[in-house]
Amino acid sequence: MAIKTKTVYVCSNCGMDYPKWYGQCPSCKEWNTLKEMNISSSSTTNVPAWGLTSSDGGSKNSPVNIHNVEYSHTQRIDTMDMELNRILGGGLVRGSLTLLGGEPGIGKSTLMLQLALRATGIRTLYVSGEESPQQIKMRAERIGVTNNECYILSETCTDNILSHIRSSNPDLVVIDSIQTLYTTSSDSAAGSVSQIRESTALLMRYAKSSGIPVVLIGHITKDGTLAGPKILEHMVDTVLSFEGDRNHIYRIVRCIKNRFGSTDEIGIYHMSGGGLRVVENPSQALISQHNASLSGNSIAVTLEGMRPIMIEVQALVSSAVYGTPQHSCTGYDSKRLNMLLAVLEKRVGFRLSSKDVFLNITGGIRVDDPALDLAVVASVLSSSEDISIGDKVCFAAEVGLSGEIRPVTRIEQRIAEAARLGFNIIFISRYNKVRIEDYPSIRVMPIERVEQLIKLCFS
Ligand code: TYD
Ligand code: MG
Repeated sequence: MAIKTKTVYVCSNCGMDYPKWYGQCPSCKEWNTLKEMNISSSSTTNVPAWGLTSSDGGSKNSPVNIHNVEYSHTQRIDTMDMELNRILGGGLVRGSLTLLGGEPGIGKSTLMLQLALRATGIRTLYVSGEESPQQIKMRAERIGVTNNECYILSETCTDNILSHIRSSNPDLVVIDSIQTLYTTSSDSAAGSVSQIRESTALLMRYAKSSGIPVVLIGHITKDGTLAGPKILEHMVDTVLSFEGDRNHIYRIVRCIKNRFGSTDEIGIYHMSGGGLRVVENPSQALISQHNASLSGNSIAVTLEGMRPIMIEVQALVSSAVYGTPQHSCTGYDSKRLNMLLAVLEKRVGFRLSSKDVFLNITGGIRVDDPALDLAVVASVLSSSEDISIGDKVCFAAEVGLSGEIRPVTRIEQRIAEAARLGFNIIFISRYNKVRIEDYPSIRVMPIERVEQLIKLCFS
């Protein structure tokens, strides 16, 4: 019997499919992203992921009373990497599908090979469609092999990979990368949206039915144009994003979706000659090069996940060289910077909009925490006035549109972190209710308005 195929139009941005073509994707509103695609009617993507298939091919799922669902508490696999364990909420969940996305060269292969090599006591299979076993071995030698049961497979055909997995029976599978896989059930080229979807669906069915966790590596380019990983985000259980600048020392693994835990956690690594190393004291590392005697530098206490982390904010304010002043940011939202500059102009009369303003978060880290606002304002004022902010001073507060200093979450932890690292003064919002007497080693300075900061620091 001939296999029936049907034609669908799949959006390369969001992965939705439609029976007819549209110029604009009705779901994500992107233009010219719908591509024609032939899929066989036996396509794996139509079968629910959690469906267990019985030997005769039919689904044997039926409604179960929730009290009768069996669940074991030892469902997580220890990755032997304390940062990964924490980000995942205590280890890799059995039967889960995890996606690790990131730009090329950031260290995805290294992190996952490290995982396969270090997870002792379990059998791991590292499938690479990009590197030969010799190349993987070279990388493994740099990292150091400890797991005797780590297997390497160079293969790009998903169907073959699945048959190898079934015969070798591993406890953990890593696929590097999902973009290199193809399956014979789809006739489009490897790396295309339909191939990625089909291969992921096959692997997802395998993970769910066998209870073996599968980790997929996916490439994302800087502008996010590559289709694959965006679609995958909907299909997988957990999405980890590997961020940072490959020219910087620090790399951050951030959890952006987690069906089995919180998405608040991040892990900080640095790339060494022997693989990725966990940064055990990130605050210390990130402010180690801080020079308090230079103007434009300040220290903020931000919160990454549950952890307070101290980072350095640098600003440079200079007369605009060209007609239109430039405002540019690295690691910080430039809209937010413009807002803070407008607040300074309107509320305290600093004419900064006609100046070039550059802002940099050191260490190659991107921060969204509003608690950074006060440090940004302090840095900008410090550079503009050319007055350095005193040594051992730090900031943790949001700045509102009317120049008011607003409270931030978990202020106690932030103050404690600043005190731990030997800071003498921390500026916070007056509306953050803290018992100052709880922190004898640090002076807590509650302020209400931006003007007070200027009076206390720059006059
Ligand atoms: P890689 O993990 O291959 O990145 P990705 O898979 O995300 O494309 O490697 C990242 C970079 O790290 C690469 O340029 C080589 C470098 N590297 C080290 O500096 N030290 C090491 O021990 C290893 C294994 C790689
Ligand atoms: Mg790689």
